[in-house]
Amino acid sequence: MTNKMWGGRFNTGPDEIMEKINASISFDQRLFAQDIAGSIAHATMLGECGIIAKSDVRDIVRGLTAIGKDIEAGRFTFSAALEDIHMNVEAALKDRIGDAAGRLHTARSRNDQVATDFKLYVRDCLDMFDEQLSGLQRALAKKALAHAAAVMPGFTHLQTAQPVTFGHHLLAYVEMIARDRSRFADARKRLNESPLGAAALAGTSFPIDRTMTAKALGFDRPTRNSLDSVADRDFVLETLAAASICAMHLSRFAEELVIWSTPQFGFISLSDRFTTGSSIMPQKKNPDAAELIRAKPGRILGAFTSLLLVMKGLPLAYSKDMQEDKEPAFDAIDALSLAIAAMTGMASDMEPATDKLAAAAGAGYSTATDLADWLVRVLAMPFRDAHHVTGTLVAMAEKNGVELDGLSLQDMQSVEQRITADVFKVLTPQASAGSRRSFGGTAPANVKREAKRWLKNLA
Ligand code: ARG
Repeated sequence: MTNKMWGGRFNTGPDEIMEKINASISFDQRLFAQDIAGSIAHATMLGECGIIAKSDVRDIVRGLTAIGKDIEAGRFTFSAALEDIHMNVEAALKDRIGDAAGRLHTARSRNDQVATDFKLYVRDCLDMFDEQLSGLQRALAKKALAHAAAVMPGFTHLQTAQPVTFGHHLLAYVEMIARDRSRFADARKRLNESPLGAAALAGTSFPIDRTMTAKALGFDRPTRNSLDSVADRDFVLETLAAASICAMHLSRFAEELVIWSTPQFGFISLSDRFTTGSSIMPQKKNPDAAELIRAKPGRILGAFTSLLLVMKGLPLAYSKDMQEDKEPAFDAIDALSLAIAAMTGMASDMEPATDKLAAAAGAGYSTATDLADWLVRVLAMPFRDAHHVTGTLVAMAEKNGVELDGLSLQDMQSVEQRITADVFKVLTPQASAGSRRSFGGTAPANVKREAKRWLKNLA
């Protein structure tokens, strides 16, 4: 049998393999709600513009609404012979309301239809990410406020650098996520133009009102060029690019959680809710959720690369290649959403081992810069000279097997005789972190202020 939707010029139906490679219904059924919303908007507009009868519009809308409910309730059987969600819905409409169903596809094509559906879907996902990410920011800012004054080692090259506060470290991620949200918001702005009514590629001779359907579907306006409307998948690419960057941020944090929760570091404990045991080693508590989040950028960036390669070199306007846009995008969107959810749970549950953090913050000559700064401030030494003197003192401390504050005043004066006992005040990690009150610095006072500001903004 030839296809009921487009089989007029065919003598036989498709080969089994053809049907298999051609059908997208196994995955694009995910777009059913958007497909039905788009069709309702289109049919309503056709009625308003006098292109089809109002009585047909009523039947179409009623039928589509019922089909939506059937699909939602799992009462709908999808057919691969009907290729995709668009034709599955239209065929079901014909079964339900008869010939009026055949009028729905007036002044429209599956090409503008799929672009519209996918835009609506991606727009919902962008809104979901925004909501989820603001939840993660809230969780982090709350933790940051609770531990605004807890000192820990700050690292460069993963070597102890200077003391920072745990809250400050968490707020660094709040900033990254703010940029992620702003990238998603930006993608949403550009996405929000309606391709519906571009038809197959050239527009239509029917007197449609594209602004009406755009408004009905929550778009800001219709797209301005029919060819571009059906050939464009930038909105998916931008979303996947922003998602890749966001996943990279989560991955960096995940890696820190993995490191911090090792017995060797012991900086934090992760909750039982987000860790697993080992089937052979009874002592183990593995940070699997963090590890999986650490791994997600691979598949998310993979989805971006996959679609970019589908699109590159593709001549205008629609080509079937573009049906390959959905599976990787769906997978990437699911992966990111799950990663954000898991990270939010982990971040809310984790507890810093503040004593261990403080001990580590004071180790590794982490306050050497504070000593050098003291020499500059109190003795008016040029910084380069102060750096050299401090380096000599670090070498001496290392030889004696002590930290800087384990050196005696005499030891210090043997290198620079003008040093006084006042210097010891700057050598604790608490004093070091507390002194860094420059804008954006790690001082507890700053961290408290910033965490509160975020919590207020995010409320
Ligand atoms: N299933 C198709 C897709 O996802 C819908 C558009 C098909 N258009 C066409 N002219 N065959 O891209």
